[in-house]
Amino acid sequence: MQFLAAKKQTDLSDNVVKNVFDLIRDDLELVETEFERQAGSNIQVINYLGNYLLETKGKRVRPALLILSTLAAGGCDDKQGMIRLATVMEMLHTATLVHDDIIDNADLRRNRSSLNAKFGNQAAVLMGDWLYMSAFETALEERSLEILDILTNLTRKMTEGEIMQLTLIGDVEISEEQYFDVLRRKTAYLFSGCCEIGALLAGADIEQQMALRDFGMNLGIAFQLADDLLDFTSDENAIGKPAGSDLLEGKMTLPLIKLVQSDGSARSMLENIMEKGEYQNGTRAEIGQVLQRFSILDSTRKMALKYGEAARKSLDVLPETGYRSALEAIPDFVVTRKK
Ligand code: IPE
Ligand code: IPE
Ligand code: MG
Ligand code: MG
Repeated sequence: MQFLAAKKQTDLSDNVVKNVFDLIRDDLELVETEFERQAGSNIQVINYLGNYLLETKGKRVRPALLILSTLAAGGCDDKQGMIRLATVMEMLHTATLVHDDIIDNADLRRNRSSLNAKFGNQAAVLMGDWLYMSAFETALEERSLEILDILTNLTRKMTEGEIMQLTLIGDVEISEEQYFDVLRRKTAYLFSGCCEIGALLAGADIEQQMALRDFGMNLGIAFQLADDLLDFTSDENAIGKPAGSDLLEGKMTLPLIKLVQSDGSARSMLENIMEKGEYQNGTRAEIGQVLQRFSILDSTRKMALKYGEAARKSLDVLPETGYRSALEAIPDFVVTRKK
């Protein structure tokens, strides 16, 4: 496809693009325009930081989910409202990334300096706050308490997830239950909100609304599991953000939790790396090998696929349309993605 070949590899990519992107290409372009409008300010420095954030695009998964969910549930008359809310989801996501990179000491995002690395933590905290508030102001235009309810709830959950994660930093004893609790909050509620708001915009019945909500929740879990796997399996050029950094930052992700369960001697090795904040020569590779030996990367990937499958199943209550098929293709995309 000529258009796609010319387009930067940052939108929803690979196979899913074939099924999904063409369907909603025009709407996603409207989201870009709306985002540029919403990130603009007559305060010069805010404009400057907003432009910096807009210069590199992410995958735009969340607005795509909101739009596809709306259309899969029957569509809505107020197209401008749908575009606005899709933009709100990307603004909220961007705000969490800006704050998350401060929290995680990450100096790279989308293949270049993170906002905190480039402009300092102070500016990044304030820009994150500004984006949150601008997102809510934009959402208010909808005049829907039901939608605001979902948005405030998921934003609170994201903060809870990040703060709970902070309290668990360096703790090699964390359970799978604690891990999933954090993951749901910090990532999956936002996915779920995108899909549920789509249902509301379409005026879907409660059964379809719940189905889309559950679809987003399970998809969000699969998405973060895949993100945590990429931290082990990929490199920073490919993912555009630090790789191998979760362990260095003291974050016990599922593969490491499984490793501690499988190998008693892993505990002190992990503690050591966390304490020093660095891998000694070869240690990252060694950890990769041990994870391989216990088939942990494989079993984590299987778990992500299982959540993806559960997500897909929820969609059975929706009418069989191209939009539903596009949604059905997203779980595999998020689990097999390379960035
Ligand atoms: C990164 O999200 C944060 C996580 C929830 C893992 P994305 O992988 O969607 O980031 P972008 O928007 O494509 O850069
Ligand atoms: C993502 O957690 C959750 C957010 C709320 C941004 P991560 O810390 O794993 O995300 P990345 O890897 O920095 O994108
Ligand atoms: Mg991070
Ligand atoms: Mg990560």
